[in-house]
Amino acid sequence: TEELKFSYKGIQYPTVLCSKETFQGMEKMEAREEDVLIITYPKCGTNWSLQIVHEMMLEVHKKEPTMIKGMLEFGKPEKYEFLNQEPSPRVLATHVPCETIPKNFFEKKTKMLLILRNPKDTAVSYYHFTNKNPTLPTYDSWDLFFKDYITGNVIYGSFFDYTLQWEKHVDDGNILVLTFEDMKEDLPRELRKICDFYGLALTDEQIKLIQEKTSFSSMKEKSGSTHGDLANVFFRKGEVGDWKNLFTEEQSKEVDAQFEKYLAGTKLGNMINYKKYCT
Ligand code: A3P
Repeated sequence: TEELKFSYKGIQYPTVLCSKETFQGMEKMEAREEDVLIITYPKCGTNWSLQIVHEMMLEVHKKEPTMIKGMLEFGKPEKYEFLNQEPSPRVLATHVPCETIPKNFFEKKTKMLLILRNPKDTAVSYYHFTNKNPTLPTYDSWDLFFKDYITGNVIYGSFFDYTLQWEKHVDDGNILVLTFEDMKEDLPRELRKICDFYGLALTDEQIKLIQEKTSFSSMKEKSGSTHGDLANVFFRKGEVGDWKNLFTEEQSKEVDAQFEKYLAGTKLGNMINYKKYCT
């Protein structure tokens, strides 16, 4: 299991998918104001938001946008030279922590979409994902995974550190923060926020069409062609509250304590709506 991970700037990454050289290449990548950069801790709704933005761009421009394959940090360092030649708009996604996002994106004021999810459902989703994904470590039990999750000893590090780091950028103006739970509650409302943020003029009919195309069932149905062998891994349940099926009382309290310590009272912490979704 250990050789599946390596460390870069104190954070663990999957060896099969990225390398130190890739990070060095990424640092020099050209960022554009018109890029869409989707930012997530793993399992918080990356593929869902990628699909949403893809459908939006398709409706607006009537042609395929440039879509990133996997995360921005995956692949060979040459990948950034190719990406630099691709036409705008480029739809990109990353799980790297705030401080590892190439500075160019901040200088260019690229509009970023930060998607949050409650830390308990994120843990459960991550557990199933890591066990079914051959490029990631496997755990014999939920309890063993939980121990690593709560101490941040997982790929991409601690959920709490990750999320707290974004707090300083909340008011930057080029970051829109959405949550998985809000998207589940009222997707058209959240889609409108994305349209307003990126200045996309879409009609109610177009929003409805995108809502249908990005529903869990439509995405799962098509996932064989979009995600191959990993289809069932990426589209598992798509629900809020699944944590109640795995968490013990004690584990629940441990997450409560971490939330209290890191995120309680912060703007991002408030957006997560912890009381509603985690208690
Ligand atoms: P679950 O494991 O709880 O089902 P990511 O894309 O960041 O890896 O996140 C994966 C999680 O998002 C999975 O959660 C997956 O089922 C869920 N998901 C993916 N597409 C979705 C959709 N269209 N609607 C709701 N949830 C979705």
